Amino acid sequence: MASEVPPVYIGLKGIYVAKTALSYIDGERGRLIYRGYSIEDLAEHSSFEEVTYLLWFGKLPNRKELEEFKENLSREREIPDDVVDILRKLPKSSHPMDVLKTGVAALGPFDPDLPNIWGQHIHEKRTENLRIAIRILSKMPTIMAYFHRMREGKEIVRPRTDLSHAANFLYMMWGREPKEIEAKLMDVALILHADHGFNASTFACLVTASTLSDLYSAVVTGISTLKGPLHGGANEQALKMLMEIGSPERARDYVKAKLERKERIMGFGHRVYKAYDPRARILKKYAEMLAKETGQENLFNTALEVEKVMIELLGKKGIFPNVDFYSGQVYHMLGIPTDIFTPIFAISRTSGWIGHVFEYWEENVLIRPRALYVGPMEAKYIPLDERL
Ligand code: ACO
Repeated sequence: MASEVPPVYIGLKGIYVAKTALSYIDGERGRLIYRGYSIEDLAEHSSFEEVTYLLWFGKLPNRKELEEFKENLSREREIPDDVVDILRKLPKSSHPMDVLKTGVAALGPFDPDLPNIWGQHIHEKRTENLRIAIRILSKMPTIMAYFHRMREGKEIVRPRTDLSHAANFLYMMWGREPKEIEAKLMDVALILHADHGFNASTFACLVTASTLSDLYSAVVTGISTLKGPLHGGANEQALKMLMEIGSPERARDYVKAKLERKERIMGFGHRVYKAYDPRARILKKYAEMLAKETGQENLFNTALEVEKVMIELLGKKGIFPNVDFYSGQVYHMLGIPTDIFTPIFAISRTSGWIGHVFEYWEENVLIRPRALYVGPMEAKYIPLDERL
């Protein structure tokens, strides 16, 4: 063994492993930008389709480019009947993230472009890879909505081409066209989760893509990584907590008791943000509107009180609401089942995952780190029958 022990960066904390121009988080000032554009501007003026174009092509589209991109996306929403059959055969109790992973994996072999790109660089197969990217992004909401209706014993609702990515998802889930505010809110949620610098799932996608595997495989890796509760999922727990509190008057005592027991309040704090998460601020505004619209002011007011107490007690430590605190509430107010919160995250983040893969492929280097061997250097092999 070498005499000098190299440094080991467990968990890669604080290690820069790539360069990116997709998104930047200023944790001190609570700022998030996608290619220089503030998340506030994008949430207010843009759409998920426009943001995806920005992430994939490096610039905002002009009207013609956007229309063309939207058309390409909307006509790819249907999934092959054989994949629908596969979804039907899955246990109704399956975790929706497993369904999404299975669905995307199953789509791969049906993609006519897949056999032609295998192992080749993006420079050679740019058009094919773009078609594949569009198919994956467009079909993911269909997989989720179909499965959701199947498990509820309802007829599936085929996608429409005249609705936005966000509105069509809700339409396929519900079987009715969403109201304007519902569609806008889903669109905003998709924009807010589309990218977030480097994180476990984005990195995992790049590991797969760096071997010159294909986009289906990369996205399946991303979904698998996002499934873990340390990555996706805090919004479910934040919502559960608000339900448990039940009313604003009970918030202070609940929070204080939990903190005294050294327990964490879900939906607060962030590894990078040490200020108010800008995505939480945006969703809070919509949560207030939706609470009024749907008569769920009690839930929203309970959240406001929890936020007030938390900032009072822990704000000086840099603990503020994160995106999960308000996203869970907003999805719940929209009537979306809790176990579909993380799949929505995946449906949105696929835009960023693919954007990062495209960017990384430009100067692709196989990701192959090393582990410091700490096992024995020599061991004598003992035949099976002689082992104790
Ligand atoms: N509730 C109560 N106290 C908290 C919380 C919280 N949610 N978050 C951090 N703290 C306290 C810690 O107890 C610690 O206190 P100490 O200094 O007295 O020991 C201090 O703040 C720093 O905490 P760390 O865990 O070191 O902060 P880190 O930046 O590593 O943690 C994390 C970030 C894991 C997100 C943490 O804030 C947390 O567990 N939050 C709750 C879960 C959550 O909401 N996750 C979603 C994150 S957003 C997303 O993934 C999309």
